Amino acid sequence: MQIEQEIFGVRFRNPVLLAGGTCGFGEELNDVLDFDRLGGIVTKSVTYDPRVGNAAPRVVEAGNAMLNSIGLANPGVEVVCSDKIPWMNENLPSLQVFISVAGHLKEEYCAIVKRLEKTGGFLGYELNLSCPNDVKMEGMPFALDPESLKEVVSSVRELTDRPILVKLAPNVPDIGLVAQAAEVNGADGVTLINTIPGLAIDVHSQKAELGAGQGGVSGPALRAVGVYAVHRARQKTRIPLVGAGGIMNEYDAIQYLLAGASLVQVGTATFANPRAAQGIARGIVRFCENQKIDCISSLIGAYTDDVEVAGDV
Ligand SMILES: Cc1cc2nc3c(=O)[nH]c(=O)nc-3n(C[C@H](O)[C@H](O)[C@H](O)COP(=O)(O)O)c2cc1C
Repeated sequence: MQIEQEIFGVRFRNPVLLAGGTCGFGEELNDVLDFDRLGGIVTKSVTYDPRVGNAAPRVVEAGNAMLNSIGLANPGVEVVCSDKIPWMNENLPSLQVFISVAGHLKEEYCAIVKRLEKTGGFLGYELNLSCPNDVKMEGMPFALDPESLKEVVSSVRELTDRPILVKLAPNVPDIGLVAQAAEVNGADGVTLINTIPGLAIDVHSQKAELGAGQGGVSGPALRAVGVYAVHRARQKTRIPLVGAGGIMNEYDAIQYLLAGASLVQVGTATFANPRAAQGIARGIVRFCENQKIDCISSLIGAYTDDVEVAGDV
């Protein structure tokens, strides 16, 4: 069973990565998770200056979903270069690492990438252009507007030869067109999807359950939205896609592969079970063996729309 893949010129041991912002830089999970059983990790989004994040509570349950508003709490790019990357190089040497980058302005993305380029020691970048919890952006992340996205992606492209993933949000009229804008402006891959804006209200206090008010919805409720986003992006782009949203087990991950993702990311599931990602990687192998699938590439994009449309409903 061939579960390894060569993507962006490097080998991914399997298609399962930890999702940005749900695993820090790996330190907290290192005692419980066997990182050698994963394909890679996307770090917490890094901003230029440190951020303390939003008011508590930052995470609440919301039906079949999780609602969070962390507010991109992170130590800032200097500490990432001086402490976090060296720690990852020493402790996670076999893992493919993407550094997630976030900012309020195109210039901030560029300054962070310039600083990270001086340090090196990681595979590539994931540009978080889609965080719904960044108060200064007032609910309008770059990924909601192809023109704004273009400016950030093309500017960062000029600064690095490393692979650039662009992370998108699904709350747009046609995510296929946004993915296409990322490709045309220099992205090597697209990650779909970030959380979508949500709100949970405490009926007794009549206040928001999250300290920050609104938050981002993740977990099982997001899965069908994410699978569709990958499918739509596959129709409009040729570059590798990375699927995320509500992946709780191997069957969820395989839906993303069938829709066209080459890699997947596990986020919320890690909060319920810190070893979830490695279990999902093992489950994909088991599924393929049971189904007599020799090579994971035969699953990727195997789904095609061949349903008949019955007309107006
Ligand atoms: C607590 C929490 C923090 C997150 N922080 C980030 C972040 O810093 N950067 C980012 O790009 N995405 C962040 N995300 C979004 C996830 O990477 C992922 O796209 C999303 O949660 C959907 O996947 P899931 O349903 O498996 O969690 C965060 C999600 C959660 C739940």
